[in-house]
Amino acid sequence: MRVTGTGHASMRIDTAAGSILCDPWVNPAYFASWFPFPDNSQLDWESLGQVDYLYVSHLHRDHFDAKHLRDFVSKDATVLLPEFPTSEMEDEFRTLGFTKFLKAPNEQVVELDGGLKIMIQALTSPTDGPIGDSSLWVEYDGVRLLNQNDARPTDLSAFAELGHVHAHMLQFSGAIWYPMVYELPQAAKTAFGKQKRDRQFDRTWRYIADLKASHVFPIAGPPCFLDDELWQFNDIFGDEGNIFPDQSVFLAEYAKVGGTNGIVLLPGSVAEVTTEGATTTHPVPVEEFFANKVAHLEEMRERKRPIIEAEKASWRHPEVDVLGEMKRRIEPLLDESIYLAKGVGGPVRFDLVGYDGESVESIVVDFPGKEVRPYADEKVRYRFRTDRALIEQLLHSGEVDWVNSLFLSCRFSAARIGQYNEFVYAFFKCLSEERLQYAEGWYDEHERAVDAEDITIGDWVVQRRCPHLKADLSRFGIVEGDQLTCQLHGWRFDLASGRCLTSVGHKIRAHRADEPTPTATPEAAS
Ligand code: FES
Repeated sequence: MRVTGTGHASMRIDTAAGSILCDPWVNPAYFASWFPFPDNSQLDWESLGQVDYLYVSHLHRDHFDAKHLRDFVSKDATVLLPEFPTSEMEDEFRTLGFTKFLKAPNEQVVELDGGLKIMIQALTSPTDGPIGDSSLWVEYDGVRLLNQNDARPTDLSAFAELGHVHAHMLQFSGAIWYPMVYELPQAAKTAFGKQKRDRQFDRTWRYIADLKASHVFPIAGPPCFLDDELWQFNDIFGDEGNIFPDQSVFLAEYAKVGGTNGIVLLPGSVAEVTTEGATTTHPVPVEEFFANKVAHLEEMRERKRPIIEAEKASWRHPEVDVLGEMKRRIEPLLDESIYLAKGVGGPVRFDLVGYDGESVESIVVDFPGKEVRPYADEKVRYRFRTDRALIEQLLHSGEVDWVNSLFLSCRFSAARIGQYNEFVYAFFKCLSEERLQYAEGWYDEHERAVDAEDITIGDWVVQRRCPHLKADLSRFGIVEGDQLTCQLHGWRFDLASGRCLTSVGHKIRAHRADEPTPTATPEAAS
């Protein structure tokens, strides 16, 4: 099996029974904030796009690059579709001219022509990607590959059960706005960033140890930031709080925990993977490339500047009545929302900075009051500050997912009272009837689920499944003193009180192992 690195989370897999192109991303994403790193625009995409199969893991724009898919990928390719709850991905592919689809039943091996086998695992909670993320398993001639991508399944047993994996591709770097955009003192930002960076690596080691593949390929990040306004997010300043470590840092950190089977694919690198081993060739020596990272980024920044300027020029839509349009779009959804609105639990304020860079219009999305209105000098749960032009563009284009556009752009600052609130972001990625209904239904089902199984970790008995997204705490839970950390997303719980220290709600059931199991009070049991 031949794997050609094509940048970020993208790769082309070639076998004698057919080829699969995965997640080709070339054009900047999220308001021209993210670019693929290392640059992959020089690859021969005309040839790379002539494939038998196309797989895109999810709709995040650093994976689903509509322009590139339209212009460079053969419309004869069969699209391998994860079993997502909504038809959005298929609809988008059809708009781009694709007509051949294979809907892969979740976690079932599908045999394609010539003995090529695939399995796709779809993750479908409202917090997985843009309501859906997925991983692709491939087998041909005894060689198995798992492209886990940036998906975060609770465990990898569905893949491990299919036999030893030879190539495991997974994310190791950051892909979010936290903590950089938060209005915090620099020292706090650095401390939170360092924690996050450590957690990302811990999670990666956990997955690697779970699967025990012959070779591990760090993919799906980091992006690079070429706009001068965002340049500081590149991990080139020796900042231990930077959440975007690159592949060379991965190799160094992996070596510290004993990892010796890491393989970095640059765009254009080719790995021949067999059951016996892997041989890789690179367009330039990997070490040399990363030694020249700053020069590479600076050169890219100059080359891409016109693209960024052109994008920026397209954002302003002064004809859009932002308050009126937000009311029209968001109030019907607030009316329908039970779980998300309750979960947010307070007003969320948007401060929109005008074209002059100074004037500010404050708009509140009032979740308890179920309305969108001017800010009324009240306490708010979250405050976001961004350019009015970005919101105009979102409203003008009818964007239904403000996470997959505004928030991932990092072109905003934020302040909040209290803990992280996942419902805020879940709501702003569900600005359509279909998405909102799905998310509400998901929470309804999970709120009602009875989760009675307990396990013992150290001195504590705790519920087996993480209150966040059901990770098995016998694998992901670490207890230090009276605190439990679930390593899947790093959420922490105070075991004595059961309180989640990371987010609102999400209480955990726990008691000391040497104390009797608490019995439910008559009130609680009724
Ligand atoms: S499943 Fe997300 S922190 Fe446990």
